[in-house]
Amino acid sequence: PLKLVVVGGGSTYTPELIDGFARLRDSLPIGELVLVDPAADRLELVGGLARRIFAKQGHPGLITTSTDLDASVQDADAVLLQLRVGGQAARGQDETWPLECGCVGQETTGAGGLAKALRTVPVVLDIAERVRRANPDAWIVDFTNPVGIVTRALQTAGHKAVGLCNVAIGFQRKFAGLLGVAPERIQLDHVGLNHLTWERGVRLDGRDVLPELLENFGPAIAADLELPLSLVRQLGTVPSYYLRYFYEHDNVVAELKVKGSRASEVAAIEKQLLEMYGDPALDEKPELLAKRGGAFYSEAAVNLVASLLGTGSPAGAVQVVNVRNDGTLPFLADDAVIEVPATVGRDGAVPLAVPTVEPLYAGLIAHVTAYEQLALTAALHGSRDRVFQALLAHPLIGQIDLADQLTDRLIAHNREHLAWA
Ligand code: G6P
Ligand code: MN
Repeated sequence: PLKLVVVGGGSTYTPELIDGFARLRDSLPIGELVLVDPAADRLELVGGLARRIFAKQGHPGLITTSTDLDASVQDADAVLLQLRVGGQAARGQDETWPLECGCVGQETTGAGGLAKALRTVPVVLDIAERVRRANPDAWIVDFTNPVGIVTRALQTAGHKAVGLCNVAIGFQRKFAGLLGVAPERIQLDHVGLNHLTWERGVRLDGRDVLPELLENFGPAIAADLELPLSLVRQLGTVPSYYLRYFYEHDNVVAELKVKGSRASEVAAIEKQLLEMYGDPALDEKPELLAKRGGAFYSEAAVNLVASLLGTGSPAGAVQVVNVRNDGTLPFLADDAVIEVPATVGRDGAVPLAVPTVEPLYAGLIAHVTAYEQLALTAALHGSRDRVFQALLAHPLIGQIDLADQLTDRLIAHNREHLAWA
């Protein structure tokens, strides 16, 4: 039986993860699960519900909670990172001040995403170091955003780490639903960076059915992404909804200026969720959790951890993950982190070969990869100049005045989280 640790275990998302662990216990036999979080009050509420979910579903695993990371990671086989430095309040800032400069305010894209990276990378590296000290064999699975930059930080520091996001599994489930087939029969030709991807093929039992999907369900697919149907049909690929922040940047800014932030929506949902979690009669993940963006992340997590620990089915070894490029996309450096299908086993994730990426996608991927490299440098070494350069390199920013204004705001709003500022 395995020992897993969830850092950020007090998250309101945790019951989603627990529900997946309970349902899919045959592929991932958990003996002990530790939820670690600095917020003891949340831990108690979330931990209580987690135990009731396991009990209801007859899962024999022990769930404990702790505020002590070092003690918790002893003997861990895998450590999942799902923390949020500064909580929804910091996210709310990331979503707000870029709008003052006419730029998108978003959790992971643009200047807000850089702020998140700067707050998060040092914290995650410290945790990873403590995991390695306790058990150098433990796998680290990172859901902590921005996943591409955080995974690159972990890889660069030599950690046994793989980054994971639910966008790909979301598309797999969506397409399976449209086609009326089991999701396992679908493999995506998914390419790009975390939150910057395109589906260039959707293979059902090996045969590409993307043209049929676009023919038969184009309007529904485009509406979901809030992108014009004509664009999706013309490209013949399915961009992730994060591409809207690029392809419709100015329209999104205009929308966001009149709409409240996602962080405040989420904070309201979280408040309700925590009240529900405190009810001893609740023993399953509540419907309300579906209002969060994390659909299917538990299933993606179970598949990935099961393959890394060697308990999963060989048929499930190919998964979309965030992994070192190592020549897969020849126009990027080897140490860039990309999001592509990979074969996952006990030695880690090895990307499958990717057919030549068209200039329309390759240009943006390369541009954002350069930004991510500079973002990581700024996160590791601090300084106003490094923040400015990362912003100047971002395809949604790119001008001196704009980068200057954004740099000032980023630093002003994040001083308490930035050791160097
Ligand atoms: C998706 C993304 C995550 C992101 C989440 C936001 O799941 O893949 O990276 O954090 O959406 O959801 P929320 O409910 O917090 O807005
Ligand atoms: Mn994601």
